[in-house]
Amino acid sequence: MAAMSSLLAVLDAADAHPVAVTLRARSYELLGDLTDLTDRTVVDVGCGGGRAVAELAERGARAVGVDRDPEMIGVARERWPTGEFHVGDACELPLETGSVAGYRADKVLHALADPERAVAEARRVLAPGGRAVLLGQDWDTLAIDSDEPETTRRLVRTKADSLPSPRVARRYRNLLLDAGFTDPVVEVHTLVLTDDTALGLLHRMTDEESWLAEQAERARTNRIFVAVPMFLVAAQG
Ligand SMILES: C[S@@+](CC[C@H](N)C(=O)[O-])C[C@H]1O[C@@H](n2cnc3c(N)ncnc32)[C@H](O)[C@@H]1O
Repeated sequence: MAAMSSLLAVLDAADAHPVAVTLRARSYELLGDLTDLTDRTVVDVGCGGGRAVAELAERGARAVGVDRDPEMIGVARERWPTGEFHVGDACELPLETGSVAGYRADKVLHALADPERAVAEARRVLAPGGRAVLLGQDWDTLAIDSDEPETTRRLVRTKADSLPSPRVARRYRNLLLDAGFTDPVVEVHTLVLTDDTALGLLHRMTDEESWLAEQAERARTNRIFVAVPMFLVAAQG
């Protein structure tokens, strides 16, 4: 429960960042013409607290959120009572073959040992001509200003190595092509964090106190700087 609350707090803070707002809006555009998506099913896989489901529903889609964590789904249902949310795995979606017009997974595939299976599952549930949008960070490309660059490099690498698929974002295009998707569109938007949002992210990256103390001092004196390139790839199923 504590881990989920801390993840949600970081996600909520990052979600409010202007680049994150633009990025989500762009991810919805890349799902396809929203007039075509009206009343059609769009699935947000690894939906977390459910914000994208609510935003897609506002745009007229029948948005469905799926997350493997029942506590996350509980939070999503509480936050967005009219939304449709299901507990389920990205590799075995609770959806019929060919039943969705759009598939979206935001900051999710790095958590999967076998992201190929999730992308194959995306292709299974998409109707012909439907679109998939993958979005997320590459955990080896965080840029963090620090007086201890060697320690920083080690901590970034340790965090990346703790994840099942830390570099999957740079593979999104190839994963989609290998699964039979066509016409990929690739964009990279950089999230630049210069406030306490950065500190929240760094606390999820490491518990090394002296390094975090320097970052806290940077935040206090307006000198914290974390840049996170976000990879956004869309393709047609
Ligand atoms: C970093 S959060 C991102 C949440 C949301 N997409 C967002 O952008 O705010 C990753 C989410 O993916 C979910 N997740 C991880 N592995 C999953 C899997 N195999 N199937 C479905 N959801 C998964 C987690 O429970 C978590 O809610």
